[in-house]
Amino acid sequence: MTTARYDEARLLQARIALASKVERGSAVLSSRVVEAFLNVPRHPFVPVFYREEGGLHRPWWAADAADEAWLREVYADQVLVTEVDGVHAEDAGPEGRRGVATSSSTLPSLMADMLDALDVRPGDQVLEIGTGTGYNAALLCHLAGASGVTTVDRTDQLVATARSRLHQAGFEPTVVRADGADGHPSGAPYDRIIATCSVRRLPQAWLDQCAPGGLIVAPMGGAVARLTKLTDGRAVGRFLHSPAAFMPLRSGEGARPEVPEPEAGCQRITGTSARVLDDPGFSFWAGLHLRPTVIREGRNLYDPADGSAARVQDHPDGSSTVALTGPHDLWQTIEAAHRTWLAQNRPRREWFTVEAAPEGQFVSYTAPDGTSDRWDV
Ligand SMILES: C[S@@+](CC[C@H](N)C(=O)[O-])C[C@H]1O[C@@H](n2cnc3c(N)ncnc32)[C@H](O)[C@@H]1O
Repeated sequence: MTTARYDEARLLQARIALASKVERGSAVLSSRVVEAFLNVPRHPFVPVFYREEGGLHRPWWAADAADEAWLREVYADQVLVTEVDGVHAEDAGPEGRRGVATSSSTLPSLMADMLDALDVRPGDQVLEIGTGTGYNAALLCHLAGASGVTTVDRTDQLVATARSRLHQAGFEPTVVRADGADGHPSGAPYDRIIATCSVRRLPQAWLDQCAPGGLIVAPMGGAVARLTKLTDGRAVGRFLHSPAAFMPLRSGEGARPEVPEPEAGCQRITGTSARVLDDPGFSFWAGLHLRPTVIREGRNLYDPADGSAARVQDHPDGSSTVALTGPHDLWQTIEAAHRTWLAQNRPRREWFTVEAAPEGQFVSYTAPDGTSDRWDV
């Protein structure tokens, strides 16, 4: 199947609607970014995507050139999942599949905030980690100009598909299959580096490949960091206000460990509801307090380093319990972090600073009383 050819006037209307949604989401968005959303169509990059029905991901193609429901979804301010556990939507059967999203077109309002923070100028050399559908690479080409953009993703299929769709839409960035953790040294130095998958720490290659005075915008630990590269090799910056639940950069070692079900037996009552983790502000703070090896998946915490696991559950009577496995009570860390977060008046992500240096990477917070905390990330 190929992309349905919608009426040009209808497509312009769809882009105007998306650009105004994106603009409404941010009072201070640059007009260059809004203009990019007005000019670059999204639908050529997502001729098919998954939608969730009853816990299953099913591929959704436009039925015909008048399929309004499909077009409305494409130009809505929402994530469009295009790969589940490595299976691209175009290869998926109608029966649907369970699994975890491994590639998608990011939430447009979040893309806009990140592009705004990246402050791309015509002529800039830009590196994107996480090509995905190619839509963000197309917006980058619109902002930087034809020859400045390099984008990398981890599979031949994602890269070949995105390259061909970018070409058909009139954009010619360099699209490379590579482990994004290594950047793309042959195109360095870059004035701008943007990642659309998340990392706990910035890979050293990104710091090395960014030109002094350049910017790096990347999801780090549940928030988007914006750092300026300094002439001494460090990069320093802050976090954006926008919550950012990106899929992780999957580098080298292969699949991430499965989060096990906690063993039956050890269970205790907790006064801290599972809902605290739904607050993106607290979730960011909690991530700073947990050991770097801890994986969070919904209401489960798991530390593959020592096998500790916790699963918290809220009950209809308002109480909460936590099931625990292993040597460490991971939920105790969350309980303590929640107490300090409340005591410090819920510090927001954008009040933290971030520093990446060859000797380490740190996130810091200075409270109104002048006391500072600093975490190794
Ligand atoms: C949210 S999607 C990217 C969205 C994309 N920028 C777009 O506009 O459609 C995240 C992407 O990061 C990619 N990714 C994950 N680990 C990677 C790695 N080690 N190297 C390169 N890309 C990686 C995934 O394959 C996925 O396509």
